[in-house]
Amino acid sequence: MSVLETFYSSKGPLGVWTPVVVVLLNALGVALGLGIVQLFKFLLKPQYDLAKLPQPPVGDWVLGHVKHLLRKDYHRVILGWAKQYGRIFKLRILNEWTVVITDPAAAAQVLASVPGRTHNYKHIDEVLGGPGKISMFGTPDEVHWRNARKTTAPAFSMANVRRYYGGVLSAAGELLSSLDAEQGALGAVDVEPLLQRLMLRATLEGLFEVPDATALPGFDDLASNILLLMAEANAQVTDPVRAFFYSTPIAPLVSKHVARCRAALKHVVVFHGKTAARILARPEPSPDNTLLWACLHRLRHPHTGRKLTAGQLHPEVGMYTTAGFDTTASTVGWCMYAASLWPEQQEAVAAELRAAGVFGPGAVVEVDEAEGQAGAKRPSLRLDAKHCPGPEELAKLPRLNAFINEVMRVFPPTAISAERLTPDYPITVMGMTFPPKTVLWCITYGIHMSDANWEEAAKFRPERWLEDSRCAFAKGPGAGGAAAAPAVGGTEGPAAAIGGAAEEEAPSTAPRRFLPFGQGPKNCVGQNFGITVVRAVVALLLSRYAVSLHPDMDLSPEGDTLGAGGGGDSAQGGSDGCRHSAEDTARLTHVAVITKLKKLRLVLQRRDRAAAAAGGGVMVGS
Ligand code: HEM
Repeated sequence: MSVLETFYSSKGPLGVWTPVVVVLLNALGVALGLGIVQLFKFLLKPQYDLAKLPQPPVGDWVLGHVKHLLRKDYHRVILGWAKQYGRIFKLRILNEWTVVITDPAAAAQVLASVPGRTHNYKHIDEVLGGPGKISMFGTPDEVHWRNARKTTAPAFSMANVRRYYGGVLSAAGELLSSLDAEQGALGAVDVEPLLQRLMLRATLEGLFEVPDATALPGFDDLASNILLLMAEANAQVTDPVRAFFYSTPIAPLVSKHVARCRAALKHVVVFHGKTAARILARPEPSPDNTLLWACLHRLRHPHTGRKLTAGQLHPEVGMYTTAGFDTTASTVGWCMYAASLWPEQQEAVAAELRAAGVFGPGAVVEVDEAEGQAGAKRPSLRLDAKHCPGPEELAKLPRLNAFINEVMRVFPPTAISAERLTPDYPITVMGMTFPPKTVLWCITYGIHMSDANWEEAAKFRPERWLEDSRCAFAKGPGAGGAAAAPAVGGTEGPAAAIGGAAEEEAPSTAPRRFLPFGQGPKNCVGQNFGITVVRAVVALLLSRYAVSLHPDMDLSPEGDTLGAGGGGDSAQGGSDGCRHSAEDTARLTHVAVITKLKKLRLVLQRRDRAAAAAGGGVMVGS
């Protein structure tokens, strides 16, 4: 018997398993060989101006810089490299070059002129919606994107945002009732799930006009299932091996986590599918109806022009449900975290709200008595729209907006946005020519936190927004030449120039150094609605409660002020006596597509009660 026959028969050293193992080893050898050939092809292909860019030392010859990014706070690694290697440097992720850009003028040019998003966006879509379920967010097909963006952008006019805002106020009554009850029963509140619920309800009831969303089967698990999938999608983006394993049929059999993800996906797909079917079952909306559901109803197939089926509409519905809720809830969460770390800032905002009568007497109404937790009676609350501020009124409060802007600068929920992919031919941007299929990563966190772009970038200082009406725009040489291209569909309204007094100004030609909603044609289409909700909920919470962190959010054993006396690299630490250093915040943070706090536990003290107890004249926390 020849050697070959021995190894391909059950007479080999591993008995009946011999042929199986040999075939697997062969397949592995072929895959490895192909991989090495690909890597050589990649390393030998022309680099154009890429060759001139600096790069950090490669962690691994095959994986490139992958290993450095396998951390929950990889946005901070990038910021560290930007400090060391400059505002434009390169990285290698397997056989793909990524150019990291933290220079505002360069970012403005890239985001204006390189339309293609990277395959990471498509990957996130598919982990969240299933294979082939690609929305306008993840599609590599520009015709698909343009068609969906143009059709749905009118949904975010200020006239529509005012209509959705009513739904936000209704959902906010439930939020306050839950906060009061949880605080009363447990002495602390786990606040983000409640914020996510508020936002999902506002999206479904306001944008899609689905009545009584909380009664829908599966509503209660929707947020946690989407978040589980988002965290998984993000982990796969930085770990190609994990992505490969996840896609294999054996993965759910050997990993409980993957099995949970598959179950979550099933649930989420059914939920979005039903929402899409509900929208399409409605009669044709009148042409003047531009609410989101009506825009989605009139969306047609980008290539055939045919009416969409529920299955085809599903990715856009899923994407709109997902894009709005976690971004907004996390932003409010970060605002509460910052308000707790800097109580004097919190009090300045609260004083402004009080002076302006925002969410003042009559805004929150007790409707009836319901049985609360632990047998305690608690009032059920609703907001009376007549006594609540409108979106425009909120946009004009300087302190509130300076505070929110500074939170979105230092703790941007889309810290790792925005990546673009050059086309399949060499292109020249920023005076440099890049090879086809190069990733250009205009990382928000790097732009927002770089000392090259901001004075005392690491310091949380809302006053910078009050002192400089053009604070959102880059300063210095080169800042005048590269304005971002306008968004498709436009974004008129308060978010178009988010920046306190800057809202009154004519659009600047200087590039933006503050881009919480991105910029260029693919900026955030929902930003008018997002920022309106953030302003309303932050104002509502800070006018009603003095918020502080629960002691279990302190990281040192004594729970003392780790940041005190710190400085340098610390976003918070140092002279202002903030109780967390940047390292502490990093340990409480994770990136799950959205950058968020792992768990936000707050202690809420009712301002009206504390003021009454103190004789009506003393400010809580002052
Ligand atoms: C505070 C809240 C929000 C933040 C910080 C935020 C941030 C962003 C950013 C940075 C992008 C651009 C990504 C890129 O450049 O690749 C984006 C895109 C997008 N956002 Fe938002 N967003 C928020 C709220 C919302 C809301 C409320 C909606 C809708 C209900 C929404 C819908 C979208 C959509 C559909 C896109 C993709 C746009 C396109 O592909 O043309 N966002 N968002």
